[in-house]
Amino acid sequence: MKGLKIIGTGKYLPGKAVSNMQLSETVDTSDEWIVTRTGIKQRYFAEGESNAFIAAKAAEAAIKKAGICKEDIACCIVATFTPDQVTPSVACHVQKLCNLPENIMAYDINAACTGFLYGLKTVYGLLLQQPEKYALLIGSEIISKYLNFEDRTTCILFGDGGGAAVVKLTTEEKGFYCVTGCRGDIEIINCPGITKAHTDIPSFIAMNGKEVFRFAADAVQKCIEEILHKSHLKLEDIDYVVCHQANERIISHVYKKLDAPSEKFFMNLQHYGNTSAASIPIALDDMAKLGLLKEGVKTLCIGFGAGLTWGGVLLEW
Ligand code: UT7
Repeated sequence: MKGLKIIGTGKYLPGKAVSNMQLSETVDTSDEWIVTRTGIKQRYFAEGESNAFIAAKAAEAAIKKAGICKEDIACCIVATFTPDQVTPSVACHVQKLCNLPENIMAYDINAACTGFLYGLKTVYGLLLQQPEKYALLIGSEIISKYLNFEDRTTCILFGDGGGAAVVKLTTEEKGFYCVTGCRGDIEIINCPGITKAHTDIPSFIAMNGKEVFRFAADAVQKCIEEILHKSHLKLEDIDYVVCHQANERIISHVYKKLDAPSEKFFMNLQHYGNTSAASIPIALDDMAKLGLLKEGVKTLCIGFGAGLTWGGVLLEW
């Protein structure tokens, strides 16, 4: 069975960084509370940019890094739960903004914060039909449009941003190790969003933080264990675990439970907050720029989010 390889990453952060201190000028919170409970120090909020613009910027950076010709791209998939409009999809806008060929499929998938991992499994299936081509996979969000800045339990957590990857099948039979899951639940975390934007029903993100925390800590650990079991690897064989960057406490809870070194669990949420589907590709791009993703490095990417959804993918660089 062929494996999946990321050959280029890119990211884009819109607007400018908003520190906890700046947020506390308008929201009843403090830098100390946010850092202690989440690890987040700042986030970016878009200022006039659309989700499609953010996604296209990240995509251009990934295509440039991969050094490929746009004509060789077979599909453009955008993982997002915050599209600019119901239709056309963000992916269709990216096709135009990036001047991608017209003989491709371009569509969005919504698995909230697990979106990029659902996306990896999706493009794996698509590339099997066109093994000589590349997939452009983007996680992009403009969550600030869906935040209630009077709800301090949610608005301090999220940020806007996009991350992208150019993906191809491996030439060798490497194996593709992936787990995905879903449990329909609209109580723990939901966002009515654009379909209800013109009614008096609030269209903001609402969440039971403690329940999300419990679900996430459990899902992350189970995904890691399941992938290790499938791939016949031990945690010691994995160079980095790249969790969805939601909360430092969720990540530290997991590495403590697994008795693993904290350095194995990459974290950059302090810079960006929770960027949902963008968080894992942004983390991979930061890791690439830090020189951590040398050839042969194994990363285990793990996501969880609204849906409820969860997933994990093992990638070798
Ligand atoms: O992609 C998935 C996204 N979701 C998540 O990652 C959320 C996971 N959950 C969490 O990270 C945590 O549950 C939170 C960070 C959201 C909240 O932490 P907590 O330890 O569960 O706090 P809490 O909700 O129990 O609130 C404790 C106190 C309350 O005050 P009282 O009732 O004890 O007086 C809250 O009103 O903290 C108060 N509080 C705040 N204070 C200052 C809640 N939010 C804030 C805030 N600033 N932003």
